[in-house]
Amino acid sequence: MTDLLGSMTRTHTCIELRDTHIDQEVVLMGWVQHRRDHGGVIFVDLRDREGITQVVFNPVVSEAVHAKAQEIRSEYVLGVRGKVSARPGSMLNPNMATGAIEILVEELKIFSRAKTPAFQIEDRVEASETIRLQYRYLDLRRNQLKNNILARHKATMAVRNYLDDKGFVDIETPFLTKSTPEGARDYLVPSRVNQGEFYALPQSPQLFKQLLMISGFDRYYQIVKCFRDEDLRADRQPEFTQIDMELSFVNEQQIMEIAEGLVKAIFKKVLDLDFNEPFPALTYAEAMDRFGLDRPDLRFGLELCNVSDIVENANFKVFASVVKNGGLVKAINAKGCADFTRKQIDELTEYAAVYKAKGLAWIKIKEDQWQSPIAKFFSDEEKDALKERLNLEPGDIVFFVADQPKITNEALGQLRNELARRLGLVDENEYKFTWVTHFPMFEYDETEKRYQSLHHPFTAPLESDIDRLADDPLSVNSRAYDLVLNGIEIGGGSIRIHDTGLQAKVLETLGIDEKEANEKFGFLLEALASGAPPHGGIAFGLDRLVMLLCKEDSIRNVIAFPKTQKATCLLTEAPSAAAPAQLQELAIKVSKPVE
Ligand code: AMO
Ligand code: AMP
Repeated sequence: MTDLLGSMTRTHTCIELRDTHIDQEVVLMGWVQHRRDHGGVIFVDLRDREGITQVVFNPVVSEAVHAKAQEIRSEYVLGVRGKVSARPGSMLNPNMATGAIEILVEELKIFSRAKTPAFQIEDRVEASETIRLQYRYLDLRRNQLKNNILARHKATMAVRNYLDDKGFVDIETPFLTKSTPEGARDYLVPSRVNQGEFYALPQSPQLFKQLLMISGFDRYYQIVKCFRDEDLRADRQPEFTQIDMELSFVNEQQIMEIAEGLVKAIFKKVLDLDFNEPFPALTYAEAMDRFGLDRPDLRFGLELCNVSDIVENANFKVFASVVKNGGLVKAINAKGCADFTRKQIDELTEYAAVYKAKGLAWIKIKEDQWQSPIAKFFSDEEKDALKERLNLEPGDIVFFVADQPKITNEALGQLRNELARRLGLVDENEYKFTWVTHFPMFEYDETEKRYQSLHHPFTAPLESDIDRLADDPLSVNSRAYDLVLNGIEIGGGSIRIHDTGLQAKVLETLGIDEKEANEKFGFLLEALASGAPPHGGIAFGLDRLVMLLCKEDSIRNVIAFPKTQKATCLLTEAPSAAAPAQLQELAIKVSKPVE
C-alpha cells in the first residue's frame, strides 16, 4: 500500500511554532490561504484549524521544490517539510502568533488541488448567505464559523464533565418514536413494515426521560437532537439540540441550583467568565407586569408601567373602554426622547402593530405643555397621576398601548426591546440572567375553545393551587421555571406530575379524555402507576446558548449544517422528491407532486 502522505508525518499544527523552534526540522500540513510571489521567492500562508504559518519556497534552498511551488493556488492542500527560520526584521508580524518565524521548505507535497473557491476564505466575506450555505464546508473554513463550532465543542465538553461529576448518566432515547407534545407540529416518518403508519421524530425526549426516572436511573442527561416543524426564526431551527436532564427526589430549588451551576461551568470553560452571584428570579406575573414578556432582557431599564386605574374614566374612549372590557393600558417613559420625529414615532407605531397593537399613543412632555394627540382628553387630576406614576419630566416621551392583556404586554414588551436597541441602551458585552418561575399552568386557546398547557401536560401544578384545577384553571400556577439570558429563553423545565390521579385531572382540564390520553401516552400513564419517584428536570437550548456565548445573532452561525428559513438544506438540497418505487413501498400517494 502506498502511503499518500509519503514519508511525511505532521509534527506541528500551524499555530505552534515560535522563535524557540528555530533550526528545527518540522512538517506542517494544511490549506493555502495566500500565495505571494516576491522576486522569485514564493510565500504561502499555510492554514489549518489552529492557525496560520508562513512557509517559504526559495530556489536557493531547492530549485525543484520552488519550481513545483509555482503550481500552488488558493485552497490547495499541502504538506511541507522544512526548517524553522527567523523572519527578517522587516517581515516580523507581531499580530500573528507565528509571526516571528517562517518555514524554509525543502520538501513539498500537493495532496489536493482546489477549484477557485466560490468565495474567498477570509474573515470579511462578501458572499451572500445563500452561497455560503450552499458551500457550507468552505464557510466552515472561515475563522468566524470555525471558532463558533470550536466554542460549541468546549461547551458540550463542559456539560459532560460537569454532569458526570454530579452523577448524571448519559442515556440515548429513540428518534423513531411517538409524538411528544411540546406545542409544535411533528415531523413524521412513514413506516415501510407497517404501511400507513408513522413514527414521529421527538420534539424533545420528555416522555422517555420521565420513564428513565421511573426505571430508577435517578439522574439522566443527554445532548440530543429535537425536531419541531414550526415557523423558523433567528433563534429557531427545525432540528436543534437540547442539553436535556432529569432528576429524581429533588424539588425545583435543587434542580435550578444544579442547572445554574451547569450554565456557570459552561461560561467559565468557554469564555473564562465567573458569575459569583446567584442568578436572580422573577415570577411570571412580575416579569409580565414590569417587562411585558416572560423572557425579559434585564440589560436595560425602560420598564412598563400599568396606568389602567388612572385612565379608566378618561375622556379618551379607547383607553376607558379597554379597561372596562378587562384590558390593560400600559406605558413606557422614554426619558429624554421628546425630540423623536413624526417619522420615528410612525416607525415605532408600525413596530408595535406587528405585535397586534391597534395604535401607539404618545405624549411629549415639554417645559410648558404636553404635546400629544390625546393629552386633551385627560383631566388635570389624571395628568397629575400620570406624571407621578410615570415620573414624567420635561424632555420625556411616553408611549401607551391599550388592549387585552396579552396584546398590551407583548406589543409594549417588544417595543421596549426595540427602543433599547434604537437608543443604544443594550450593552453587548453584558450577560444578564434571570430565572422566571410560577408560570400559569394553562392558557385559553380562543380558536380551539379549550385550555392548553403553557409548558407541557406533565408539568406539576403548585401544591397550593391543585384544588382550583377544576373550577378556575387559569388561576393555577405550575412548578415550571425558565432560564432567560439577555431576553432569550435558553432553558425551561419543571417538576413533573408523578401521581396518576393528578395527571388524570390535568388531562381532563386540557379536554383530553381517557381514550385520547391512552392512545397518545397510555404508556406513560401506565408507567406512572408502576412506582414513580418524585422527579423533575430542565432542557437548555444548546444552539441558543452557544449563539449568546459567541455573540452571534442567529443560531445558524453556531450549527455546522443548518437549515434556511424555509427549512431547506442548500448544501444537500433536502428535502427532495422521493422515487416512485420508494413511495410505493411505503404505500404513499403524493397528492401534490414536486413540479
Ligand atoms: P422547551 O420546549 O422549553 O422544553 O425547550 C427547551 C429549550 O430548547 C430551546 N428550543 C429551541 N432551540 C432552537 N430551535 C427551536 N425550534 C427550539 N425550541 C426550543 C429553547 C428552550 O428553552 N421537554 C421540555 C424541557 C423540560 O421540561 O425538561 C422542553 O422541551 O432554548
Ligand atoms: P385615534 O383617536 O384613533 O386617532 O387615536 C389617537 C392616538 O391614540 C393615536 O396616536 C393612536 O395611535 C393611539 N391609539 C389608538 N388606539 C390605541 C390603542 N389601542 N392603544 C394605544 N394607542 C392607541
